[in-house]
Amino acid sequence: MRSHRHSVILLLLVCLLASSALAAPMHPVHAPHAMVASVHELASRAGIEMMQAGGNAIDAAVATGFALAVVHPQAGNIGGGGFMLIRMADSTTHFIDFREKAPAAATANMYLDSSGNVIENASLVGYKAIGVPGSVAGLAYALKTYGKLALPQVMAPAIKLARDGYPLAWEDAEDLRDNDLAKFPESRRIFQRNGSYFQQGEILRQPELARTLERIAKNPDEFYHGLMAREIATAVQKGGGLITADDLAQYAVKERKPIRGTYREYDVISAPPPSSGGIALIEALNILEGYELAKFGNRSAEAVHLTAEAFRRAFFDRAEFLGDPDFATIPVAQLIGKRYAAGWRETIDPAHASTSKDLQRPAVFNELERYARTHAPTTTIREPENTTHYSVVDGSGNAVAVTTTLNDTLGSRVTLEGLGFLLNDEMDDFSSKQGVPNAYGLIQGPANAIGPGKRPLSAMTPTVVLKDGKLFLVLGSPGGPTIITTVANILMGVVDFGLDIQESVNAPRFHHQWLPDELRLEAGMSPDTVKLLQNKGHKIQMEHSWGDGECIAVDPKTSERLGASDGRNNGKPVGF
Ligand code: DON
Repeated sequence: MRSHRHSVILLLLVCLLASSALAAPMHPVHAPHAMVASVHELASRAGIEMMQAGGNAIDAAVATGFALAVVHPQAGNIGGGGFMLIRMADSTTHFIDFREKAPAAATANMYLDSSGNVIENASLVGYKAIGVPGSVAGLAYALKTYGKLALPQVMAPAIKLARDGYPLAWEDAEDLRDNDLAKFPESRRIFQRNGSYFQQGEILRQPELARTLERIAKNPDEFYHGLMAREIATAVQKGGGLITADDLAQYAVKERKPIRGTYREYDVISAPPPSSGGIALIEALNILEGYELAKFGNRSAEAVHLTAEAFRRAFFDRAEFLGDPDFATIPVAQLIGKRYAAGWRETIDPAHASTSKDLQRPAVFNELERYARTHAPTTTIREPENTTHYSVVDGSGNAVAVTTTLNDTLGSRVTLEGLGFLLNDEMDDFSSKQGVPNAYGLIQGPANAIGPGKRPLSAMTPTVVLKDGKLFLVLGSPGGPTIITTVANILMGVVDFGLDIQESVNAPRFHHQWLPDELRLEAGMSPDTVKLLQNKGHKIQMEHSWGDGECIAVDPKTSERLGASDGRNNGKPVGF
């Protein structure tokens, strides 16, 4: 009887999840008090449960984060890292950096063969690609420092989901058929049932992960200092990876000062290095502030052109200057200054696309030029395809934006025996070799070379926007370099073009990252606009795959929380 009831509930859930995947929603989800927006409804619900039990937005974010480690193994994780931006209702802000670190034995040339060529996939698949994970430390730190509830309570939904299982959506079942995953026996056993692949609607149970989560709930420090740390280090080394128990013991979460800027009458608070997100976002917005974009119209060729030119310049600077701030000096103030943006604006021709390779920094910023000259030629990185973002607003107006990643979909594909979770391949976010173009064409400087204990440069952009000093938007997305431009697209959709948060999340995206010198457009852009952009000289690349922005707006008049679902990956906000 009990198991029959269990099956009926699961069947209902399958139908619910399937129906949520039908079409892009037209309106945001409205809630009077609180909202969690994430890629998975069950993870959003875990967060809501905490707030209904008296917890705040941080409790909710941590519950959602651990739940995503179960229901979204592609990117939700305890084997990776990320960034949490907190803006409390009393206006204080906090940025928690729990990005992975390179192990102590990492070297600049570790992914090169004896002839100095990059070894294909070495930084992407397998044990050597794994950076020291920061997620467990980051989530536990956030809860202890800013939350109200105890870890066992906050992790209870995740533990239950791992133990009892949850129905797989079609997309999840498809993702788990990954060929590289099959190379690692424990991953193949858990996520691919040894080759008898999961189908849509089947239940994925993860008993090893449930046990791991129970151990973490009792003592999160065990991941870094206890028996679990030794188990992780032994298993990684057995597979040929570099992480030692000492690397785990040395791992430390960092609180950093968020990047702040203004865009028109709005305040923008975002991710500082080792993310490039906040600097690139604010630099682009500063450039765009000099144009009346609203008068051109949403997704008009004029507005897209100017915005793409701003993106081009922000990514040019990203490539040159950004890396781990603990190891490189980054000219943050110049990059996010309004005068610098005004200099850049003078280099933009409203009628013609610039050519990336001929881009010159505005001469007025000699100090930036000097800095650039002291650095060696450019380097490339790859920023592949999976990460997840979640946003939370609680009843008091505290807001949390978290972007977290294993880097590639399913990370390094390595699951450690007995522990049940996938590990990241974040080492690929470093430069493997200077001057070699990669699959994504992202170029950047030696500030992001591999080095022991360094954090790789990221594009993750958890962002909060204030209107008249009050919480207005909580934004973020996955998508590698397109994270930055997706957040800008969504922010500008609301601020410049008067869209509501759902319309803005739905609107077709566009992206420019300096190199390759092409303007990437999402299917759905008007063909007339595409032609006009081509006439201006843009090389157009149409693309179908863009990250799901999991975003919340607060209605300035009613204070309602408005959660936007992103149909691009079945995102599902839940509120109350
Ligand atoms: O930190 C970064 O920028 C990358 N590891 C993010 C990768 C990513 O977003 C892939 N997502 N879809």
